[in-house]
Amino acid sequence: MSRGELTEAGRRHWQQKQERRAKIYRRRRALAVVVLIAVLLLIGYLFPRAWGWVSQLSSEAFSGETLSGEGPLDEVRGNQIPESGAPEPETTPEPEPTPEEAPDRASDPSRDPDSIHVLVNRQNPLQPEDYAPEDLVAPEVRMSTQSQLLLREEAAEALEELIQDAGEDGQVLAMTSGYRSYAAQLEVYANRHSAVGTEETDELVARPGYSEHQTGLAADVISIDNPNCIQGHCFADTPEGAWVAEHAADHGFVIRYLDGAEEITGYQFEPWHLRYVGEETAQEVAAEDLTLEEYWDRPAAAEYDVEEPDLDPAGTS
Ligand code: DAL
Ligand code: ZN
Repeated sequence: MSRGELTEAGRRHWQQKQERRAKIYRRRRALAVVVLIAVLLLIGYLFPRAWGWVSQLSSEAFSGETLSGEGPLDEVRGNQIPESGAPEPETTPEPEPTPEEAPDRASDPSRDPDSIHVLVNRQNPLQPEDYAPEDLVAPEVRMSTQSQLLLREEAAEALEELIQDAGEDGQVLAMTSGYRSYAAQLEVYANRHSAVGTEETDELVARPGYSEHQTGLAADVISIDNPNCIQGHCFADTPEGAWVAEHAADHGFVIRYLDGAEEITGYQFEPWHLRYVGEETAQEVAAEDLTLEEYWDRPAAAEYDVEEPDLDPAGTS
């Protein structure tokens, strides 16, 4: 029997069969859609957690430390550990600290004994130790000694002007010490040393080879006509001493051993000891009330490298 010859009952049976198949197909398709949605939801749920575990595991592998609470890693990383799985917060990098720039100075320190900027202190003796300047002259000023005192030419001229200006302001000053050779410094030091010993002598007198007086750039001044104080620490409290403190820099001199700077210079306050450095440098030093060590950014020099002084004449030890 051919298809065209199907009976009515046969055609209905075939139709019903087709409808059943279509129904099964629709059900399967709906089920597939439901399963697909379920799978997607499951992935959406599991993925972030899985990512967190992976991140945690890899962090531990790199650090060798756990991420719980405070620990060495907290310290090393500045407590920047993010919550598991959370994105790292954006951080602004700390700016590199800029090294403090040394201020611009009118001069630099020198080791050349002929320079007006030679730094002489307990850590920087004269080189050579028996150095003597070649341009020594006697300043035309009142002196408290029988013998002529000497200074280097430039310092001598500056001291003449200083003492003259002081006189015009009614302050009488005289020079009491200037250039001292190595041998002269040795004599001054040894005299005091034989009386009071090393410690007390060091407070006021430089050891031979370590004195600014040997440069020919240092002068000691006194209030020679002041009945209350001619010489010594009281000089700072005299009108002459006050004038010097105010005007020395105008003539290129600094008060070298300042009150309160004993830990830097090693010496007591010497309001009478003037060191010539030139006007520009002296003005800057005075404006900031500095020692030369501070001004030139050099270390404090309150100590000698050797405990006891060498009191042999230069070149014999
Ligand atoms: N009085 C100073 C420190 C010197 O002897 O050079
Ligand atoms: Zn002096």
